[in-house]
Amino acid sequence: MKHNTLKPFPADFLWGAATSAYQVEGAWDEDGKGPSVIDARQHYPEGTTDFKVASDHYHRYKEDIALFAELGLKCYRFSVAWTRIIPDGDGEINPAGIDFYHQMIDELRAKNIEPLVTLYHFDLPQALMEKGGWANRNTLNAFVRYANVLFEAFGDKVRYWLTINEQNMMILHGNALGTQDPNLENPVKNLYQQNHNMLVAQAQVMQNLHRRHPQAKIGPAPNIALIYPLSCRPEDITAAFNYNAIRNWAYLDAAVWGRYNTTFWRYLEEKDALPHIEEGDMEILAAGRPDFIAFNYYTTQTVEASRNDGTDSVARSKTDQHLRSGEEGVHRGAKNPHLARNAFNWEVDPVGFRNTLRAIYDRYNLPLIVTENGIGAFDKLENGTVNDDYRVDYIKAHLKQMQLAITDGVEVFGYTPWSAIDVISTHQGCSKRYGLIWVNRDEFDLKDLKRIPKASAKWYTNVIKNNGID
Ligand code: BG6
Repeated sequence: MKHNTLKPFPADFLWGAATSAYQVEGAWDEDGKGPSVIDARQHYPEGTTDFKVASDHYHRYKEDIALFAELGLKCYRFSVAWTRIIPDGDGEINPAGIDFYHQMIDELRAKNIEPLVTLYHFDLPQALMEKGGWANRNTLNAFVRYANVLFEAFGDKVRYWLTINEQNMMILHGNALGTQDPNLENPVKNLYQQNHNMLVAQAQVMQNLHRRHPQAKIGPAPNIALIYPLSCRPEDITAAFNYNAIRNWAYLDAAVWGRYNTTFWRYLEEKDALPHIEEGDMEILAAGRPDFIAFNYYTTQTVEASRNDGTDSVARSKTDQHLRSGEEGVHRGAKNPHLARNAFNWEVDPVGFRNTLRAIYDRYNLPLIVTENGIGAFDKLENGTVNDDYRVDYIKAHLKQMQLAITDGVEVFGYTPWSAIDVISTHQGCSKRYGLIWVNRDEFDLKDLKRIPKASAKWYTNVIKNNGID
């Protein structure tokens, strides 16, 4: 649809930026913090370091928040490290961990920056992992307790909460994100049991927050990428329809409507991966209600009908969830010939962003917030500056499409691009940078960890000032 005039971004739009605890904090074993699955990892992709120091945000959060304020950020999305609060996941509470986040939230509030808090972003306590991780019902109960501890401590200070970051990626790419145990007899069944337990935990947590702090708002934060059919061949449409149900809607249907969708359920049946559902689970699912939907968007995906000849799955990388698509006998991964790619081979699709916003809003009719969007690149610091024009181009193109979606009628109340400052990428270390602010270190040399706003930060400051792009 061609619009003659564009609707402006809402006046109180939450212009922000995002990070996650294990990717920025460092101080992996300080002040009583226990090890998470990330800290316990034995192998990192070749040429990349661990997450032990990361961007040293734990020690420099004041300096970082001061920079965020200079940039004009109205919101900061960060995650709490579960292992700072409860070092072994389900035991004693660590007061130093609670103190740290109190100080951080107070610092944000003092600078008029709205905290947007993710409860859990990939960093499960290692002690819980050793007891079976999310497949063990104990983790569900531990998560509910952990969330209650956070609500109790910060419920009066935090208005916006996110439950679980990219649950769908943890389940669909268990290999890449370390949730899949290949030694199990039926690793896929185990993954979908983890999924079920996370869904129940999430629903319970949403309900608990609403009970305790009715003024606060909470929502899920999956990675949603609209699935395109490669052609208008009806079989390709069915494949796209199926994969949308399995990759995207399964997670949001459960969060919003409290039920599994039929396509997804049939898929689980076919794979012998139906989860064990305890009495009362479906009631908990039905009673949990999000106030909004948060989602991370990097790109769309394209599929065609399965050929079921052993070649359906295209894995362009073993360790990168965005470079794997297709599942034997279900749908076939395809390249979209209309899209350019970034330096890491991810397809770039700003129009797909509008399409994805539209599709989510049409289906659920809830307010949306975009909690990740950005471009990973080999940035260079030259003569004291980083000219990341490609990042400006990427974000600008996505914001244009977001404004079109708003004009279409979609209710969007915030945008927190990935990432506020350089973080350690989940798969490619710190050579793959996302930040609006440079952190002066490289993989193995920590240098001075100095913060330097990039060209994109300066550009984004103007966007915020103007409440949108020119
Ligand atoms: C999302 C995650 O999947 O994508 C982030 O929530 C991650 O934690 C981001 O960093 C980008 O992925 P990557 O692999 O390039 O770091």
